[in-house]
Amino acid sequence: MTTKTPGTQGAVRTDPAPGREAPIVELRGAGKAYGNVRALHGVDLAVHPGRVTCVLGDNGAGKSTLIKIISGLHQHTEGEFLVDGEPVRFTTPRDALARGIATVYQDLATVPLMPVWRNFFLGSEMTRGPWPVRRLDIARMKRTADEELRNMGIVLDDLEQPIGTLSGGQRQCVAIARAVYFGARVLILDEPTAALGVKQSGVVLKYVAAARERGLGVILITHNPHHAYMVGDHFSVLRLGTLELSAARSGITLEQLTNHMAGGAELATLKHELAQVGGVDVEALPDAGPEAGGAGDAAPKDTAPGTDVPHTAEGKA
Ligand SMILES: Nc1ncnc2c1ncn2[C@@H]1O[C@H](COP(=O)(O)OP(=O)(O)O)[C@@H](O)[C@H]1O
Ligand SMILES: [Mg+2]
Repeated sequence: MTTKTPGTQGAVRTDPAPGREAPIVELRGAGKAYGNVRALHGVDLAVHPGRVTCVLGDNGAGKSTLIKIISGLHQHTEGEFLVDGEPVRFTTPRDALARGIATVYQDLATVPLMPVWRNFFLGSEMTRGPWPVRRLDIARMKRTADEELRNMGIVLDDLEQPIGTLSGGQRQCVAIARAVYFGARVLILDEPTAALGVKQSGVVLKYVAAARERGLGVILITHNPHHAYMVGDHFSVLRLGTLELSAARSGITLEQLTNHMAGGAELATLKHELAQVGGVDVEALPDAGPEAGGAGDAAPKDTAPGTDVPHTAEGKA
C-alpha cells in the first residue's frame, strides 16, 4: 500500500479543503418537467469557487436540462435553486449572467469571419470619445484581448485572423478566457471536448484548470469519465433524470467512475447476450467490476448538498 501526498499526482489534483467556502450555485431536490416528460428529478448539486464539478451521464440523462436551469434558459419545476444562498428563478440567460453565471455552449456563438479580438468583445465592445462621436476603441480591444488570452496561457499567433480559422479547441479556449474577463464566477461548459481529438481535449481541460485556479466555480458537462477525472473535484452522474452518484474526488476512483458511466449492470447483461450469439470470446472481455451493480456501491452517495464525503484514502489504496 502506498500513501499519496498531495501534489504528487502530476496532472491529477487532490481535493482542496471541501466545503470551506460557501457554494455559489446550489440545487436542492431540483427537477424539471416538460409537460408530461420528467426530464430531471430530485437533483442536488453544489458549485464552489475554485472547484470543478463534473456532471456526467449518457444521452438523455438530463445534463442539458440541468445546465439550462442554471444558465437561465429554463426554469425548474420542483425543488430549489440558490445563488449565494438565496433562492432564485431566472427568466432569461441575462439574469444568470448578471449573477456571474456564464455558459459556453458547444455551438459557440461566434462570428466566424470576424477577427479573434472582435469576437472576444462581441456584444460588449469597448468605445472611446464622447457622444455623438463615440467610436470603437479598436486598439484597446486588441491589446486587452491579447493580454487576457496570455493571462490564461493561450498564445495565438495573430488576433486578426478570423475566429473561424481557429481549431475547435482554440475557440473553446477563447470563449473561456472571454467569460473570465467579463467577470464570470461560475463557468458552465456543455460537452466542451465532445467533438475534439485527444490533443485538443487536453488543451481545453488545461484551461478548465486555469479557470479554476482563477477561483471560478466550473461545471463541466461530459460523458467522458477520463476527461472528468483529469480535472474534477466532484462528480455527479445523472441517469434517466436522477442523480445516480454524487461523490467527491476522494470518494471515488477513475475505475469506479468509468464503471458508473459504462453502466456496469448493462454491460454484464450485454456480455451474457453476446455469449449466446457466439463469435465473441466473452471470457476474454474485462470484468464489469464489483461496483458495477449499483447496490452495495463502493462509491458513496452524498445526497446532502454541499457536504462532501470525508477524506478517506485518496483514490485506490
Ligand atoms: N424541450 C424539451 N421538451 C420535452 N422534452 C425534453 C426537452 N428537452 C429535453 N427533453 C427530454 O428530457 C430528457 C433529458 O434530456 P437532456 O437534458 O437533453 O439530456 P442530455 O443533455 O443528458 O442528453 C430527455 O428524455 C429529453 O428527451
Ligand atoms: Mg445534452
